[in-house]
Amino acid sequence: MKVLDSKFAQGFIRMCNDGWEQGWHERNGGNLSYRIKEEEIAEVMDDLKMDGAWKEIGTSVPTLANEYFLVTGSGKYFRNVILEPEDSICIIQVDAKGEKYKICWGLKNGGRPTSELPSHLMNLEVKKKVTDGRYRVVYHAHTTNVIALTFVLPLKDEIFTRELWEMATECPVVFPDGIGVVPWMVPGGRDIAVKTSKLMEKYDVAIWAHHGIFGSGEDFDLTFGLVHTVEKAAEILVKTMSMSPKKLQTIEPDEFRHLAKDFGVTLPEKFLYNK
Ligand code: 13P
Ligand code: ZN
Repeated sequence: MKVLDSKFAQGFIRMCNDGWEQGWHERNGGNLSYRIKEEEIAEVMDDLKMDGAWKEIGTSVPTLANEYFLVTGSGKYFRNVILEPEDSICIIQVDAKGEKYKICWGLKNGGRPTSELPSHLMNLEVKKKVTDGRYRVVYHAHTTNVIALTFVLPLKDEIFTRELWEMATECPVVFPDGIGVVPWMVPGGRDIAVKTSKLMEKYDVAIWAHHGIFGSGEDFDLTFGLVHTVEKAAEILVKTMSMSPKKLQTIEPDEFRHLAKDFGVTLPEKFLYNK
């Protein structure tokens, strides 16, 4: 089968376009990665080129040894993915030590995988470990309202989680474990990848101050839905703060506890402090 006829490639392309349509991917902003299933890569093997050169990932991900990933290209525009997928995205394989990658498909006019490859692969590695292999998607987007909040809220997990939970009743059900916050750092390297993947051990969402968001999930729907929910909550918070410096009423800690019981989720008490 051709890569572009596969369901996973079509789901990936659709998600890139959905993110573009939301306005989260100006120019080449944002990147997406998917850890391909064994049966999916077997189906498209005839369409892959296995003689590419091995290149350094820039970090080490031994748990992902020999696995294949669909990722966006560095400097490529989400806007163009649906029109020219073979120019914009690529399939890579990680080597037996988890230190190098090679391009097996795509980026037909040259280029390399996203500059955030260390963050994507380290997050995918952590998520593979802590979810017994269920999570396969990592998504980075330049979500406008989340970024705006990183200029006015203290950069603390507890504050971002609680403030965003309060903005929509569905939030604590969609991201019950909460949200991690990374202070401003230089993007594109190992340091920010290490910091983000540490947060991904306990959260599905990490915010990069003055930059954007990382979300992870089992599949494209769940991961896009997660980031969409967080950004929508951030938009409501931006509107609320713009209207008034103080909320007149909100969802209170005991109401969150009640919601958690009825919806069968566990909400860490550290987010339910009294203000
Ligand atoms: P890439 O074009 O290398 O994916 O970088 C975009 C980006 O958002 C960096 O954080
Ligand atoms: Zn970015």
